[in-house]
Amino acid sequence: MAPPILFLLLLFLQKATSNNTTCHNPCLRNSLEVRFPFGFDNNRCSYPGFKLSCDSKTQIITLDLPNIGNFTVRNINYGSQTVTITDPQNCLAKKFIDSSFDLSGSPFNIPEYYNHFFTFLNCSTNSTTVISGIRRVNCLSNENFTVVTLPTNIYESFPDFMPPFCTELKKRVAVPPWYRWSDSETRLIWNEPYCLPCEVDGGTCQFKGNTGLTIDCNGRSKGPLPRSAKYGIIIGAGIPGLLCIIGIVSYVFGRLKARSSGNEPTMEMSTSVAPQPCVVVTGLDGPTIESYPKTQLGDSGRLPKPNDNTCPICLSEYQPKDTLRTIPNCNHYFHANCVDEWLKMNATCPLCRNSPDGSSVMTHSSSLTSSYSSLSTP
Ligand SMILES: *[C@@H]1O[C@H](CO)[C@@H](O)[C@H](O)[C@H]1NC(C)=O
Ligand SMILES: *[C@@H]1O[C@H](CO)[C@@H](O)[C@H](O)[C@H]1NC(C)=O
Ligand SMILES: *[C@@H]1O[C@H](CO)[C@@H](O)[C@H](O)[C@H]1NC(C)=O
Ligand SMILES: *[C@@H]1O[C@H](CO)[C@@H](O)[C@H](O)[C@H]1NC(C)=O
Ligand SMILES: *[C@@H]1O[C@H](CO)[C@@H](O)[C@H](O)[C@H]1NC(C)=O
Ligand SMILES: *[C@@H]1O[C@H](CO)[C@@H](O)[C@H](O)[C@H]1NC(C)=O
Repeated sequence: MAPPILFLLLLFLQKATSNNTTCHNPCLRNSLEVRFPFGFDNNRCSYPGFKLSCDSKTQIITLDLPNIGNFTVRNINYGSQTVTITDPQNCLAKKFIDSSFDLSGSPFNIPEYYNHFFTFLNCSTNSTTVISGIRRVNCLSNENFTVVTLPTNIYESFPDFMPPFCTELKKRVAVPPWYRWSDSETRLIWNEPYCLPCEVDGGTCQFKGNTGLTIDCNGRSKGPLPRSAKYGIIIGAGIPGLLCIIGIVSYVFGRLKARSSGNEPTMEMSTSVAPQPCVVVTGLDGPTIESYPKTQLGDSGRLPKPNDNTCPICLSEYQPKDTLRTIPNCNHYFHANCVDEWLKMNATCPLCRNSPDGSSVMTHSSSLTSSYSSLSTP
């Protein structure tokens, strides 16, 4: 017997002894690896809710989220159990508003670390920046109307925040990760079926038996991990860990540098943040704002906390060399230019509502109307 045939036979035997899970894939020219729990059939090849469809002409793979609509599947990470999808209409915000992004009929969820609710406002203005530092939703805006969005907790904290030229489109939508650099791409996770331990051992999940939803691990090996599982582990654990280390190291270096040069106010990350009594103040003056600690990010562009790498006001990720500001009595960071605009209107931290340092603060107040006019310049 020629060696190739022997090899094929061995492969075949291996396939036959480990169960029969060859599922049909009409989108083979798409490089995406589609396997359990995903599949293209309703039979025992896919877990309920994980059925994909394939356009055989375009080779586009689509996931239909009940109540929301169809999305193009860009990537599946079987190790970290995440799926990256894009909106074919390139306007996720429209889906957020129209369907409240109701995932209840699907097995997918918003990652826990991304626990954000957003409020969407429709503003009758033609200015490119309605309120500086607040995200503009380009796909819903035109020359006469601008749709903007901001975290609901910030919006609710300040009832008189809403400019008179805006109306509420949606008060509270749970949105998945949604970055300024991509208005159409987002990422969801699934918890069931839980195949992670199997993937880590180099196996693939499949159904156990011919009925029921119990799963089984197929081809578990103690050999080297398959690439997808390795990537999953690297992405799921390695990168955050690495970033965490880089973040801590650059933070420590930043502190040492700030101390030795003596110009930069030292950031006291003191843990004794006693919640301050609520003080009614409207806004702060420039010198007060300037007195708050500023810090410039190093090359890593990351803060010590790995999941805290997005400015909560303008919703864009911190980039290397960005200048951040932190409010005394509050360990939250913001882009300096975003939080400065905020502090001119409101003298409390947008996230924890702590008022910076009590006494010296309650000096200036700027009326909201003057803020609006000064803010509406592009
Ligand atoms: C695989 O399963 C199908 C039914 O699901 C069956 O018809 C077929 O004979 C099986 N093949 C092998 C090799 O066990
Ligand atoms: C989503 O795709 C499926 C299958 O291609 C199709 O039957 C369904 O009508 C689509 N739904 C929407 C809202 O376009
Ligand atoms: C925006 O509106 C103002 C009046 O509110 C008008 O003067 C200006 O020309 C408009 N700009 C554009 C680009 O339409
Ligand atoms: C915003 O409001 C205007 C006027 O009411 C309306 O024509 C436009 O469609 C609204 N935009 C959205 C995205 O709802
Ligand atoms: C914006 O308003 C102007 C003047 O009212 C109108 O001519 C134009 O068609 C509007 N643009 C859109 C996209 O609605
Ligand atoms: C897979 O094989 C096991 C025995 O090795 C059997 O009990 C199980 O029913 C099989 N699963 C499927 C889906 O055929």
